[in-house]
Amino acid sequence: MPKHEERDRMDDEVLTQSVLQIRCFPDPVLKKPAEPVECFDAELLDFVERMRATMRMSDGVGLAAPQVGESRRIAIVEYDGRSFVLINPRLLEQRDEQTGEEGCLSFPGIYAEVRRPAWVRVEARDERGELHIHEVEGFLARAFLHEMDHLDGKLFIEYLSPLKRGMIRNKMRKRAAAPR
Ligand code: NI
Repeated sequence: MPKHEERDRMDDEVLTQSVLQIRCFPDPVLKKPAEPVECFDAELLDFVERMRATMRMSDGVGLAAPQVGESRRIAIVEYDGRSFVLINPRLLEQRDEQTGEEGCLSFPGIYAEVRRPAWVRVEARDERGELHIHEVEGFLARAFLHEMDHLDGKLFIEYLSPLKRGMIRNKMRKRAAAPR
């Protein structure tokens, strides 16, 4: 998910080198359910670091591995000074509802109102394999659910009316077909 407010761009050269390419709709990797992570090794640490660099360069608050072409159950969320790594996440409990504007780094510049639970309890491992229980609310809950959906090949446009969803799909397909 992109963030709305401006933030200082990190133009560090090392960061630029490790940045991954973000896949946009209709890239088929976005629709594919991702595979659980079984090996918590140095490669994983490095990959999560590169995801973080990619998300920060794109002014994002969340990024899921399928969005950089890797069908693995890994997502990261950074918002309001808090940072989360969600590996093999599982939704344990949800409460109440919220409606708010949502976007996605795989749909640049496109935002829509989406209804989601207002509070969630999520179990997930971090990049070292340690198990955590996260309880988050408001925008963080929205970001968690948005990124966790990506791991099941589910996109935020699926919560919209067929009309709105169709308009966004057409726009994205035209963009993908346009010469660069
Ligand atoms: Ni997204």
